[in-house]
Amino acid sequence: MADTATGTGQPHRTAPGVNGRAYQFVDHTFDVVVVGAGGAGLRATLGAAQAGLRTACITKVFPTRSHTVAAQGGVAASLGNMGPDNWRWHMFDTVKGSDWLGDQDAIEYLVRNAPAAVYELEHFGVPFSRTQDGRIYQRPFGGMTTEFGEGPPAQRTCAAADRTGHAILHTLYGQSLRYASEFFIEYFAIDLIMDQEGACVGVVALNMDDGTLHRFRAQKTILATGGYGRAYFSATSAHTCTGDGNAMVLRAGLPLQDMEFVQFHPTGIYGAGCLITEGARGEGGYLTNSEGERFMERYAPSAKDLASRDVVSRSMTMEIREGRGVGKGKDHIFLHLDHLDPKILHERLPGISESARIFAGVDVTKEPIPVLPTVHYNMGGIPTNYHGEVLTLRNGNPDTVVPGLMAVGEAACVSVHGANRLGSNSLIDLVVFGRAAALRCAETIEANDSQAPLPENAGELAISRLDRFRNANGSTPTAALRLSMQKTMQDNCAVFRTGEILEEGHHKIHQVWAASEDVRVADRSLIWNTDLIETLEYDNLISQAVVTMDSALARQESRGAHAREDFPDRDDQNWMKHTLSFADTQKRTVSLADRPVHTYTLSNEIEYIKPKKRVY
Ligand code: FUM
Repeated sequence: MADTATGTGQPHRTAPGVNGRAYQFVDHTFDVVVVGAGGAGLRATLGAAQAGLRTACITKVFPTRSHTVAAQGGVAASLGNMGPDNWRWHMFDTVKGSDWLGDQDAIEYLVRNAPAAVYELEHFGVPFSRTQDGRIYQRPFGGMTTEFGEGPPAQRTCAAADRTGHAILHTLYGQSLRYASEFFIEYFAIDLIMDQEGACVGVVALNMDDGTLHRFRAQKTILATGGYGRAYFSATSAHTCTGDGNAMVLRAGLPLQDMEFVQFHPTGIYGAGCLITEGARGEGGYLTNSEGERFMERYAPSAKDLASRDVVSRSMTMEIREGRGVGKGKDHIFLHLDHLDPKILHERLPGISESARIFAGVDVTKEPIPVLPTVHYNMGGIPTNYHGEVLTLRNGNPDTVVPGLMAVGEAACVSVHGANRLGSNSLIDLVVFGRAAALRCAETIEANDSQAPLPENAGELAISRLDRFRNANGSTPTAALRLSMQKTMQDNCAVFRTGEILEEGHHKIHQVWAASEDVRVADRSLIWNTDLIETLEYDNLISQAVVTMDSALARQESRGAHAREDFPDRDDQNWMKHTLSFADTQKRTVSLADRPVHTYTLSNEIEYIKPKKRVY
């Protein structure tokens, strides 16, 4: 672990605070700085260090507490351990799941590299569940099929019981410690350092433990900061999922992509929001309404409960709207596992059996679990190519690489998930693109290469932001602003959307953004100041919330997770394009542009998968 006194810290420099205080920096120089220590961040850290690059990983929580730990059901790869499978079928399913908004070159890269990435995890030590003959156990997951959607469901999701993310995260952290990477733990990244030419040259972070401020200079900065589920009131995401990297990108004047596509997982526990894995339905669980009907048979006659998530979430919402919800308020749905062999539940779904007991008071062997669609994943994020290099719109070219800046994992929009991600394609995205980013660093930079001195004012913007919030003396507590934001997103940018509801949401969320001027922070210290950190996180969330709402209002079609009741059909002619959203965080305005979907594959071993109607 890095110690600023003994590690890479260089003599202190100072930056002025807006209130006349001087802040001192501890300076560090690395080849690669990774921000975030979830699955993608750790895989990138490990790969860069393995390649001999001086690598630092900055993380606001202890690595094994990163949100990847909560991933349950598994990691998708066409190993074919439980029946015929191949990467082309996985590619077809992913393109179809994305509702043809995914970039097909990136999707080919993902699915072709998936089996090797899973075997690598196995060799690293991930304790996968096993078949009788000792192979990695694979379960069915929503939208995963065989024969290009014409065959039976594929068993493609490699599982470590229902704690796959936990197993992967702990293994990757252990592996990263084998190499000479330095971890800066409980450091909160405040802002990127950009130079005059628009290149990223590092990042500024606060050591929350002792209040010191640090400038990390790097040839490559890799953002692996996860999603921003906490912009919503009810989410399966941890409270730490505040999309800090996405917001840094917006503040640097760079775009985010496809932010209107927010995934609702069908089975969050009613009330608590905790995840009940899709693996529960993969193992034979099913949903019922107040009439005891297995209603998914009506909405998705072929895939039924294993249709893709957007389809299942919409079907559940329709049942509730039409008065067939369960419970006193008729406002949720039942998930049944009570017909399954308790031995199977114990062996394959022990984690969710425990969550259901603790958070819903339910014995899954005897009673159904009350569930409701709950915000789970952000398909949108920082636009990148399949090497993990961040892209922006410059001189009319939306695929311009931003020098020095990379992004991986849920923070990134590669885009392999397009308008809707298939379950278990997230964990594979983390490891495939975490590795890809490290490979790209090894290809494009030299270890220990000299780096230009940091710009004279490097870090001042970050400091003025920190200082402003530290001394914020308004009358509205951060918690009140955050609640208004979360309620607005939950009510006005949900599973179903209309122009009218989004217009109202646009108005309300911009009001919350404006009201943020009046924020009050009570604690003025720099040491373990959770009031300040939550305010910086809120500030990150609100900029993402506004671009999400405005992107959703602009997209006049239904595609994947973006279901407009006033535009019920997909409109490939006008809308088969990515949304790019920019935010001017000073003037509090949003502007939108677009970027073409990559309608070409990486190799000639598979043809472009042409759009067609998406039915399950
Ligand atoms: O349902 C789940 O286990 C979640 C998996 C995922 O989001 O990929």
